[in-house]
Amino acid sequence: MPVPTITWEGGEEGSAHLIDQTLLPESYRIVECRTAAAMWDAIKRLAVRGAPAIGVAAAFGAYLGIQHSSAATGADLEAELLRTCDTLATARPTAVNLFWALNRMKRAAASGRHLDAPSLRRRLFEEASRILDEDRAICRKLGEVGRGLVRDSGSYVTHCNAGGLATADYGTALAVFYAAKDEGKRFTVYADETRPLLQGARLTAWELHESGVPVTVIADGMAASLMKSRKIDAVFVGADRIARNGDTANKIGTYSLALVARAHAVPFYVVAPISTFDLTLAHGGLIPIEERDASEVTQMAGKRVVPEGVPVWNPAFDVTPAALIAGIVTECGLIEAPSAERIAAVFTTGRATN
Ligand code: MRU
Repeated sequence: MPVPTITWEGGEEGSAHLIDQTLLPESYRIVECRTAAAMWDAIKRLAVRGAPAIGVAAAFGAYLGIQHSSAATGADLEAELLRTCDTLATARPTAVNLFWALNRMKRAAASGRHLDAPSLRRRLFEEASRILDEDRAICRKLGEVGRGLVRDSGSYVTHCNAGGLATADYGTALAVFYAAKDEGKRFTVYADETRPLLQGARLTAWELHESGVPVTVIADGMAASLMKSRKIDAVFVGADRIARNGDTANKIGTYSLALVARAHAVPFYVVAPISTFDLTLAHGGLIPIEERDASEVTQMAGKRVVPEGVPVWNPAFDVTPAALIAGIVTECGLIEAPSAERIAAVFTTGRATN
């Protein structure tokens, strides 16, 4: 059940089409992005969100920046692309997939700077399209690798939205559920509502429900009681950036969920593509954490819920230490008890061997 989170229509002369995720589940609206500035805005305001989807969006945003260029040479077109990438890189700081995708576009431009401008433009369109296609294939692979961790009649918890809406296909953490369902397993998923922007309640519940996976929404503070009172088999979450040692940044509240899971001996799994690893960072303390506008906390459904004058702290992500993670499901296999050594081995050999 892939969701058309981000698609490109019309070939080289075309445009990007995104589901405006800020409006779900109340309304389902597609927005068209014809310029890099429109794509920057869509990423910034979370119309498109979730690390892999942000990467795909950034790649097409970079292409949009040079789509109608009048550059005379490949080198001039490359210079324009670099400027567009610099701007897109300011949209959001935490999900490394954004920078990873922009770097791929920059590398494609560098390798084709000797070409004439129309040929390089085509190469950049192909690279952005490839990033989208690869993401689709990776989601399927993540599902395949992770589905064995889901048992028939089991119960699971997830946080935020790491599903089809966060990728170009059917997700990372939720791919595991979709693949297990395709095998004929029946199970229940508890979705944390994920304050302040409610990606769990609005988006995860929407897409699981639409796909026929039984889903129950809980407020974030209910996870401990849930694990104490009902049998929970595992937690599956996505990731925005994973440091060299396995420390993982994901939506704010993920760390508390991991602590609660550890206290109840519930295995905690991260599901993410290899592009979410940032080997330049030795540990999670170095991951830049986005802080968003206080209004996301002070307002709910257009109503003020915090007294005027009371300060608010609104980090969008937190970091779960590797020690709390039972395993990271990647397209290269499951990295059990992730550590710097085990992660380095995956990058060296291309597969996880535990
Ligand atoms: O602020 P968001 O909605 O972009 O945050 C998204 C998350 O934290 C997801 O869990 C993460 O990007 C993984 S998506 C497959």
